[in-house]
Amino acid sequence: MKEEPLSISQLYNKGKETLEKQGVTKWFPPDSNIEGSAQANRRYLDSLFFVPKFFDPVEVDTSCTILGAKLKTPVFCSPLSKTDFLPDNGLAEIARGVGNAGALMMLGIGSSKELQDAIDTGAPVVKMVKPYRKTELIYEKVRDAKSRGCKAVGMDIDHFYGRLLGDRVDRTEVFGPQHTEELRQVIAQAKLPFIIKGVLSVSDAEKAVELGASAIVVSNHGRGAIDFTVPSMIALPGIVDSVGNKVTVLVDSGFKTGNDILKALAFGAKAVGFANSMLLAFAADGSAGVEHLINLLTAELQRTMAATGCPNLSAVTGAIISQAPTPG
Ligand SMILES: Cc1cc2nc3c(=O)[nH]c(=O)nc-3n(C[C@H](O)[C@H](O)[C@H](O)COP(=O)(O)O)c2cc1C
Repeated sequence: MKEEPLSISQLYNKGKETLEKQGVTKWFPPDSNIEGSAQANRRYLDSLFFVPKFFDPVEVDTSCTILGAKLKTPVFCSPLSKTDFLPDNGLAEIARGVGNAGALMMLGIGSSKELQDAIDTGAPVVKMVKPYRKTELIYEKVRDAKSRGCKAVGMDIDHFYGRLLGDRVDRTEVFGPQHTEELRQVIAQAKLPFIIKGVLSVSDAEKAVELGASAIVVSNHGRGAIDFTVPSMIALPGIVDSVGNKVTVLVDSGFKTGNDILKALAFGAKAVGFANSMLLAFAADGSAGVEHLINLLTAELQRTMAATGCPNLSAVTGAIISQAPTPG
């Protein structure tokens, strides 16, 4: 009998089981006992419901262009970096799966070789540069990314104050707050679309626009930056209202399904990022697992777009969402 392909939850479970067998139960960020923004984001996503429109069926097209890259689906692999359990070619193999599924790959901190290997798979690649205290390193990394053919570069500004690991902060000696005028120079000299990642307030979004960014990622770094920042899905609509017609607004942190993607698109995001989910899919079945995950996310997105009467991404609006009544 032919085996049924794995569903989204089966793929995640297989990835978790595979990692557990290797002794990996927690990776990034390690848990603390605090229920923070990630859980609040999940609760909020789960309180949003679709308003169906079953009559007048539509054919659905999820294609889009993000940062100049033509994609089959509004999905990106959020910036990833090498982590202990990934094999040496792990990031490139994730990029291969991402590219095969017609999505966008983003890489975070890491070497030029990792970046080149990912680009060599043919996937469209974006490089996210850290807010290094050594400013020259920022310019160097941006130049390197441009010379290798990245579609865009960016910076995760939510690591200005170091990286949060559970309830411990590290890398404060390496990463630091960037002077606004210096950032303006970095963005101007990049001569590539520049993304500011880690935006959670209207004021940071407006500043990013003013500094010349082409895109922002509304993100809380998946609990890797500051605890109890406003959850990305809650911050998203206000940010879209203020800068959505000036920059491409992307979002990540805690998204797991195709329906999650549609909720974020309905709130004005142009594409949705997945990091931990990509790692699970890779652990489950290498680059084929990553490709399968994105295809499953896209299939669920398409099905619910059809059921809410949206033939393409520009037809998706807040009107397809109904919010759960608040208790009490
Ligand atoms: C192993 C790992 C490495 C990461 N490295 C970076 C990085 O270098 N730069 C960055 O901006 N974000 C980095 N992130 C954060 C992700 O890009 C993303 O914002 C976060 O994990 C939330 O998405 P998720 O809930 O889908 O995992 C990393 C995440 C993981 C899991």
